[in-house]
Amino acid sequence: MSRLRVGVLISGRGSNLRALMAACVDTTYPARIVSVVSDRVKAPGLAFAQSAGICSAVIPHHARQAFAAQAEVLLRGQRVELVCLAGFMRVLDAAFVEAWRDRMVNIHPSLLPAFPGLRPQSRALAAGVRFTGCTVHFVRPEVDAGPIIAQAVVPTRPDDDEASLSARILSVEHRLYPLAVRLIAEGRVRVVADKVEIDGWRAPKIALLNPCEPL
Ligand code: GRF
Repeated sequence: MSRLRVGVLISGRGSNLRALMAACVDTTYPARIVSVVSDRVKAPGLAFAQSAGICSAVIPHHARQAFAAQAEVLLRGQRVELVCLAGFMRVLDAAFVEAWRDRMVNIHPSLLPAFPGLRPQSRALAAGVRFTGCTVHFVRPEVDAGPIIAQAVVPTRPDDDEASLSARILSVEHRLYPLAVRLIAEGRVRVVADKVEIDGWRAPKIALLNPCEPL
């Protein structure tokens, strides 16, 4: 089996990178990480990738186009087939996004299209939603926009603050991202009229209520 060659772009902590790396430890997982690029030297995720022997590089993000040109060279050099944004905090050059159209994915901690952009967990709490969650989607030039591949629903609680809700969502991100990458790597995901179709898709049978019934 040839495994899909994945490049990961990060800016910081890198817990999603670690979740993807953990999934790739299983040699039957259909993808493997061959390149990690960070725009920050001190990104903790970078050190983790280096310690695991993954080809890693820093490209300081001074200018959008220069970053894109250097990233392109690195990713092509490793024959990357899918780019995963994992806590990459910069807006990418539109031409770079187009070049990787439907071959670049992102994870965002909300149920898009709700709460794109910064601090979505805090904004979800401010809006008083009973559910939020996380989304893996193909990347388009607009921030946190593009065909949705997979989502996970996470309940909010009355005593939540940004930190507690973020942690609850993050633990689910670590399941959702490897699942979405697996589906792509298995060749089961395609974009039709800017929406995602998944071969063999199975829907959850249950509806979730928050508060639960009976109260
Ligand atoms: C995650 O919440 C991800 O959804 C968002 O940025 C955060 C990155 O966390 N895009 P980490 O660096 O993967 O730990």
